[in-house]
Amino acid sequence: MKKLSVFFAIIFGMMGIVRADEGMWLPMFVERLNYVDMQKMGLQLTPEELYSINNSSLKDAIVGLSNGAKPRGFFCTGEIVSQNSLLFTNHHCGYSSIAALSTVEHDYLNEGFAAKNFSEELPAEGVSASFLIRMEDVTAEILSVITDDMDYMARQKAIGEKIKELEEAASEDGKLNPVIKGFFEGNEYYMFVYKTYTDVRLVFTAAQSIGKFGGDTDNWMWPRHTGDFSVFRVYADENGEPAEYSENNKPLTPKYNLPISLDGVKQDDFTMIWGFPGSTERYMSSYGINYNVDVFYPIVYEVFKAETDVMDEYMKVDKAVNIAYADNKAGLANTWKNFEGQITMLRKNKVAERKAALEAEFTEWVNADEDRKAEYGDVLETLEVMYAQLAEVAPYLFYPNFTAQLSPMATAAEFSEYYQVMTSKESSKEDKKAAAEALKEIDVDAMFKDLDARVEKGMLIAVMNIYGSKFENDELPEAIQKLMKKYKGDWTALANDIWDKSMFSNAETVKAFIEKPSAKKLEKDLAYVMYNALIEQLYTAAPAYRIANIAIAEADHEFVKGLREFYAATQPDKVLYPDANSTLRMSYGSVKDYSPADAITYDYVCTANGILEKYIPGDFEFDAPQRLLDLIETRDFGQYADDNGELITCFLSTNDITGGNSGSPIMNGKGELIGLAFDGNWEAMSGDVNFEPKLQRTINVDIRYVLFVIDKVYGATNLIDELDIHKAMPEPIRVEEE
Ligand code: ARG
Repeated sequence: MKKLSVFFAIIFGMMGIVRADEGMWLPMFVERLNYVDMQKMGLQLTPEELYSINNSSLKDAIVGLSNGAKPRGFFCTGEIVSQNSLLFTNHHCGYSSIAALSTVEHDYLNEGFAAKNFSEELPAEGVSASFLIRMEDVTAEILSVITDDMDYMARQKAIGEKIKELEEAASEDGKLNPVIKGFFEGNEYYMFVYKTYTDVRLVFTAAQSIGKFGGDTDNWMWPRHTGDFSVFRVYADENGEPAEYSENNKPLTPKYNLPISLDGVKQDDFTMIWGFPGSTERYMSSYGINYNVDVFYPIVYEVFKAETDVMDEYMKVDKAVNIAYADNKAGLANTWKNFEGQITMLRKNKVAERKAALEAEFTEWVNADEDRKAEYGDVLETLEVMYAQLAEVAPYLFYPNFTAQLSPMATAAEFSEYYQVMTSKESSKEDKKAAAEALKEIDVDAMFKDLDARVEKGMLIAVMNIYGSKFENDELPEAIQKLMKKYKGDWTALANDIWDKSMFSNAETVKAFIEKPSAKKLEKDLAYVMYNALIEQLYTAAPAYRIANIAIAEADHEFVKGLREFYAATQPDKVLYPDANSTLRMSYGSVKDYSPADAITYDYVCTANGILEKYIPGDFEFDAPQRLLDLIETRDFGQYADDNGELITCFLSTNDITGGNSGSPIMNGKGELIGLAFDGNWEAMSGDVNFEPKLQRTINVDIRYVLFVIDKVYGATNLIDELDIHKAMPEPIRVEEE
């Protein structure tokens, strides 16, 4: 195994020409791999100012947002912008907290919220903010535990145990949160040591008609006019250490906070983004891509879209439904539109074809050497066969899975343990009594709190019909075949009856059941019957699915190992970067326009004028607050206007990011905050699998629009006062000073 680490040292040690734009680089290697290149492009900071484990550096202003005290991954990124740990992130990153804090009476989601002082700031329950203390290479330690005679599962087990051991040793009795992750499909391992703060509070949000302006229609699209930001603050105990929420906690004094520039951007300006990209598949085989495009993504797309269509119908007309479903809907819609985009653009950009061409070259290289043939000769064939197996079983797994997650079935599922105990011959009287007692622990009101009967029933009908259209009668579980006979193949009629007759569609009947539970009642309940049948179908498909997935993971590990040797041998200048895996990364590039199609060029900035153009009064997605409209009409942009007197809302850059980077700071060559990354563009939705230099752009909200909204639209000048705002002196003065 030693050979491996020597090999990596060679790869990382190469000072080859790094192509800018593409790549999500590891902080500890920036100096070695990227620094020269970045300097040429316009970076003015030293490597020490970017990443240092001894002195405060830029990385100390970057936080991973997650849930709980020991996160292993992050849903979004935030950045510290004041000495009181004011934190900027995206509106869609704060969305879940904002929605949870909103009620019809205090509708922060639709009206906005601005705390006037610390005491008005609202605890964002469950949200945590993690700072990276340091990272280190632990490849040698981790790989030391595996031997040649171990099979894949034995290796995974040994590695898992070693990871646990090293993490515990680095945790300083639980004060720190060390996380070890595999890189290059388990060919390398790095430990990231975080300090995780669990008292995070909402400080400011604009109405969603600013924060989510354009809604799901504009999501993943350019041109863009979304004010996708929200503001939080990190709190600590009196020693500056992480603590659960307490009134006595104080704003954390951070090691570093980002200064902010009001100077804006020009085409080709250097840009740098730090954050926590969640997952990419840049080394995926053509077989994996085809499986996603042809099988997996279409299933998810169809089901999720059907669900959000129903939600939309009621969210548009009912404020309580609008708030209750906001978060769930945003997540589902973001996913189905992403998958729709990936299906379209992976095909259009011919990604699988290009990967297949690479695989042909790889195969030729493998076949030219007997040792290589012995090691990698059957890797691609394994992937082909195993993805075919996945494709075959996927429908039998995912359709029942999504159907079983609908509310009456999901509620019924809560009672299956009770049923097992009541009907098992091995259960004693005491067991049965205890099982019935345990039901009283279920918080039925919490379960039904955010459910609207019209929406839930509508989704049940829609998804049951999708489910029903996928299988021949004899492919269905027996219990469902029986039901279909009774309902004469009418899935809508069955769905209606499940909703109307099951006790699990209504909180009161569930409570009544808990008072007087019985296995017999469960057996007769339509939702319970349906749930069990779906689970049976899913369990039947699960082993083949699992086996294929393990074989794929093992083959991918080998394939990436081989690919790295292939590149080292054939293109020694190429520096490889690891796939995103929810660890801190840096990406650098520049401000750039693009051409989405022949004869069309998209500008790299959007202005507030576009808000007036897109504005539709009262619309679900394109309404806007009157105050914002007035300020734009009167061109009252204050110090936030650019040199032409325009207010820039969003701008494009070539940085390589993905989901999880949302909320990441985009900085200029001086390390000043110029915006927040929040989206990718439609034409490059294939970008997680293959970076497209000509097409792929990060969409950023301009920091001047962010501050304009805080300051001019909401008058929250208390927050502006906290910031470290830089504005370049007019040109002549600067010349004189020199
Ligand atoms: N596309 C963005 C991302 O994945 C999320 C945008 C959320 N907005 C929305 N309209 N659903 O980072």
